[in-house]
Amino acid sequence: MSSSLVLSEIQNHVAILRLNRPQVLNALSLELMDELVTCIEMFDQDEQIRCMVITGNERAFAAGADIGDMATATPIEMYLRDQFTKWERIRKVKKPLLAAVNGYALGGGCELAMLCDLIVCGENARFGQPEIQLGIIPGAGGTQRLTRAVGKSLAMQMILTGRTISAEEALQYGLVVKVVPVECTLKETIKIAEEIAAKPPIAVQMAKEAILMAFETSLSEGLLFERKNFYLLFATEDQKEGMNAFTEKRKPQWKGK
Ligand code: HXC
Repeated sequence: MSSSLVLSEIQNHVAILRLNRPQVLNALSLELMDELVTCIEMFDQDEQIRCMVITGNERAFAAGADIGDMATATPIEMYLRDQFTKWERIRKVKKPLLAAVNGYALGGGCELAMLCDLIVCGENARFGQPEIQLGIIPGAGGTQRLTRAVGKSLAMQMILTGRTISAEEALQYGLVVKVVPVECTLKETIKIAEEIAAKPPIAVQMAKEAILMAFETSLSEGLLFERKNFYLLFATEDQKEGMNAFTEKRKPQWKGK
């Protein structure tokens, strides 16, 4: 399926969603975010899809929310617009979401990448939260997720000064999992997505849920949540299949049940 602002294709149980406003470096307009959330939720419900990849183009993943949408807005207009509900809907997605980032991932673009479960980037990637230069602060999770990802000092520097970081720095600080040549970014991300898609899907989703819980709870509560999911997976056919296949020295056939 393809729409104008988000192009999508499916490849081996992996849905690839490409942000498509190249003339404005994929600035995340309200319409683009609408299409993106609709696509993501549709694929989250689709049994054929096991993993999703969000990408942009070689110049930009996304250079932020569309400044034109916000420039003259009043607080009440921003409130009624309720744009962050869309971001919350992406946060609730069960299947893994991977970001393949080339070029600019700034402001809302960096926040969208960080909303994904892991980030692969090209050597030309630039990550940053430059909102301070517009007289605002990050609004879609930047102060929280960047701080958790790279630590307090660098997050402070990036958010208080607007400094962007390179792909190498992003790797060094753990914001991204891998840096690759620009022309390989999508391919490398799809490779990881296909690896995930080849695993038992219910276990994958429960693992994602448990990892994300690490950011929400105390260690004791997180461990309890993990243990409940661990026990629950013994109700799946895939658990029996995985363990039988191991003892029978054959490849498991996952059913997603
Ligand atoms: C609207 C944008 C845009 C944006 C770029 N463009 N970023 N339009 N919103 N966020 C447009 C430019 O106006 C220009 O349009 C075209 O894209 C190309 O950009 P240039 O500036 O000409 O390119 P370049 O000189 O290479 O500079 C690239 C850049 C710069 C460094 C990324 O565009 C830039 O600083 N952009 C803004 C980055 C930013 O502040 N992001 C945070 C936004 S606030 P024309 O028509 O002139 O060709 C935010 C808050 C999130 O994200 C809140 C939660 C949703």
